[in-house]
Amino acid sequence: MQGTVQVSGAKNAALPLLFATLLAPGTHRLSNVPALRDIDTAGKLLTILGGRVERDGDIFTINSDDIRSDEAPYDLVRTMRASVLVLGPLLARVGHARVSLPGGCAIGARPIDLHLKGLEALGAVITLDHGYVEARADRLRGARICFDFPTVGGTENLMMAAVLAEGTTVLENAAREPEIVDLANALVSMGAKISGAGTANVTIEGVSSLHSMQYRVMPDRIEAGTYMVAAAMTGGDIRIIDARLAHMEAFVGKLREAGVEVTEEGETVRVRRVGPIRSINIKTQPHPGFPTDMQAQFMALMTRGDGTSVISETVFENRFMHVCELQRLGADIVINGHVATVKSVAGLCGAPVMATDLRASASLIIAALAAENTTEISRIYHLDRGYEKLEEKLKSLGAMIDRQPD
Ligand code: EPZ
Repeated sequence: MQGTVQVSGAKNAALPLLFATLLAPGTHRLSNVPALRDIDTAGKLLTILGGRVERDGDIFTINSDDIRSDEAPYDLVRTMRASVLVLGPLLARVGHARVSLPGGCAIGARPIDLHLKGLEALGAVITLDHGYVEARADRLRGARICFDFPTVGGTENLMMAAVLAEGTTVLENAAREPEIVDLANALVSMGAKISGAGTANVTIEGVSSLHSMQYRVMPDRIEAGTYMVAAAMTGGDIRIIDARLAHMEAFVGKLREAGVEVTEEGETVRVRRVGPIRSINIKTQPHPGFPTDMQAQFMALMTRGDGTSVISETVFENRFMHVCELQRLGADIVINGHVATVKSVAGLCGAPVMATDLRASASLIIAALAAENTTEISRIYHLDRGYEKLEEKLKSLGAMIDRQPD
């Protein structure tokens, strides 16, 4: 692969940012919003809750004057579990929220117990009935909350709940992902008082009201990482516009360890395969560790390594769904609990495979780019949840990839 590709706005930043508009009346303007199914779903949910949403290219304008807390229905929440991020802002704005429990998903049970415990600590009364979470609070009160696990969504929900609470909230063992920092920056631009975002201790001083935001979504570090792996897999030399190495140090460190050259040229990152791929071990961790959202893509690369790679998934309990499909392409992978052992093979051979979740879809595409013959990937609706025009962007880099009509 050769050429230059532009990264879109980050899905996992845009989603909480869209829900943060529930916190303040007025017209909010979000730019660099990626065109994704999950973003469309978030727009639908905001409309159900009373928001007036308009989209013009990558710009979303949302008027939140008339937010009423209708419920976030099951048929919508089950398609996108990030919908639970309306709990914090609705509680803070209108004192009531009724959100369907998300249910499990392909990569794990993904409960929201830490979200609910935190909201109760702020004074919310939470009841569960018929698969719905009902949350009520006249006025949330600041509290010190220590998360059992640095939950990304839990940190985001609690940060959004605390900005209008009475008094100060401290989140300990908070998630440190760059998307958390993006959300905090947007909330501060709305008049919130937040310090420590991006560290394990976030302090939020409640204010009485907020005003609308005009904000640009950060670039998508997982999309950027996906192109980097694709270039490594195919022996390419590409440039990625809007990739931020500062957001992906652990991942880039592992890519370099595997023999890939990664250099920063201003706002662009150059990725070049300069020699054989070395088999290395990775272990996914909360940020700033190796991101779980890059595990499947990296596993595809390790099928082309020069030895044995041990991949440990510590964040989700079932995030190896791509393994069976990679094996159909000829990969030699053995799973033992949370650990997958990948032995290098001479080459992969194209075959029909099935996408099971968003990042598994990307992993199969990466493997298929280096496989002999043609690979057909079904159920790519998973892919459309989190990648904007992926096949077009890869084609512009020389990949032979086409989307077949349904
Ligand atoms: C966010 O999910 C991302 N999604 C995920 O990206 C990402 O993989 C994950 O963070 C970890 O980085 C969005 O931002 C929309 P968590 P989230 O709460 O918030 C357990 C992608 O591919 N947990 O940090 O759901 C949970 O079961 C998606 O773009 C509890 O037990 O992640 C999981 O094992 C996939 N109780 C672990 O923590 C809770 O209350 C991490 O979950 C909350 C979480």
